[in-house]
Amino acid sequence: MKIEVMINNKKIAMEIECDEFLADTLRRYGFLSVKKGCDTGSCGLCTVWLEDKPVLSCSILSARVNGKQITTIEGVQKEAREFADFLVNEGAEQCGFCSPGFIMTVLAMKKELKNPTEEDIVHYLTGNLCRCTGYVGQLRAIKKYMGVV
Ligand code: FES
Repeated sequence: MKIEVMINNKKIAMEIECDEFLADTLRRYGFLSVKKGCDTGSCGLCTVWLEDKPVLSCSILSARVNGKQITTIEGVQKEAREFADFLVNEGAEQCGFCSPGFIMTVLAMKKELKNPTEEDIVHYLTGNLCRCTGYVGQLRAIKKYMGVV
């Protein structure tokens, strides 16, 4: 079937299978920043924005995004680079496996939450798993990034 989607502010016509998931479609069309980890909606690695809200692209049928706006990390490169550099400067970067999804979630949180508490931040990031574990350095850096003291 055919769908038409706005991806990173560019209209793209796509040919999809009716049972195809968005992560697979995006990768097939060259959006290789979209990674898959668990492929079961558990790890957050495949996070993209659907209408400016973070979603798990491995769990959304491509047919359901017809006519919608999708943003991948390619569409927010400048902000993503700035945030990635911020994490490095804060000593909070770990192996980087979770970074693509993690960055998309944090940038969405930055746009959505004004004056969040630490609990708000932890809640927002619940769906993004880090295989290095710990989260302490990341949380410290993200609190600073979000302006929480
Ligand atoms: Fe989508 Fe893990 S790959 S949540």
